[in-house]
Amino acid sequence: MTMDIIETDDLCFWYGDKQTLFDINIPIKKNAITALIGPSGCGKSTLIRIFNRMNDLIDGTKTTGAVFFNGENIYKPDTDVLRLRKRVGMIFQKPNPFPMTVKDNITYGPKLHGVNDRKELDAIVEESLRKAALWDEVKDRLNTFALSLSGGQQQRLCIARALSINPQVLLMDEPTSALDPIATSKIEELALELKEEYTVVTVTHNMQQARRISDYTGFMYLGKLEEFGRTKHVFDNPDSKLTKKYVSGIFG
Ligand SMILES: Nc1ncnc2c1ncn2[C@@H]1O[C@H](COP(=O)(O)OP(=O)(O)OP(=O)(O)O)[C@@H](O)[C@H]1O
Ligand SMILES: [Mg+2]
Repeated sequence: MTMDIIETDDLCFWYGDKQTLFDINIPIKKNAITALIGPSGCGKSTLIRIFNRMNDLIDGTKTTGAVFFNGENIYKPDTDVLRLRKRVGMIFQKPNPFPMTVKDNITYGPKLHGVNDRKELDAIVEESLRKAALWDEVKDRLNTFALSLSGGQQQRLCIARALSINPQVLLMDEPTSALDPIATSKIEELALELKEEYTVVTVTHNMQQARRISDYTGFMYLGKLEEFGRTKHVFDNPDSKLTKKYVSGIFG
């Protein structure tokens, strides 16, 4: 049996002595969009931050169980965490471009990873911006300050920045919640294009968005993965009564 691109095995997680995730077993399918939904505080952000070990940056946390990325347990002591984060990129709720030019935002990562050739860097800039559906809007102002772009453009720039170092997985934590409907639908379209080449895991409070764009949905509740399956199944015919209540808007 082949493994999914990310899989967890009885994953548990604590902030200090407070357990936040309980025995999570989730398969993340390659070249698909997985949406994580659930009420505030149920552990969605905590879970996706585990996929590239971002929680390591917080003191006093503990993780048990295993998380496999391409079949390798990323919580093994000898894991190269920088390499992992290169492969598993992250997009946040609030667009957070670096305070530098559009172009420098994209070349920052590749330079850090040893790319110095100007032509090569220019090619990475164009390719990343094209893939993030931003090239046409910024090609004539690559040297403007990134923070002068609109919120939606800044978010696509952050996606382009993540793409510049050739990730396999993109983690997105409520990537559209700070955006207007038009900027939101651009990001949604983009996610659908990106899954051809990448694997996307997104957290959303927007049920319509989860339904529209995701192939798989995980419903989390109080730190547990209450239900996981094909999005259509989870929304239209869920196994769990709690899931049914949540997706029909009875609580949340
Ligand atoms: N850095 C932290 N230190 C301590 N506790 C934390 C920390 N971050 C999150 N928590 C707690 O862990 C639990 C899960 O939080 P998490 O942010 O993963 O939830 P979430 O599902 O993403 O919620 P939301 O939908 O509001 O973003 C919550 O009880 C939260 O208070
Ligand atoms: Mg969150």
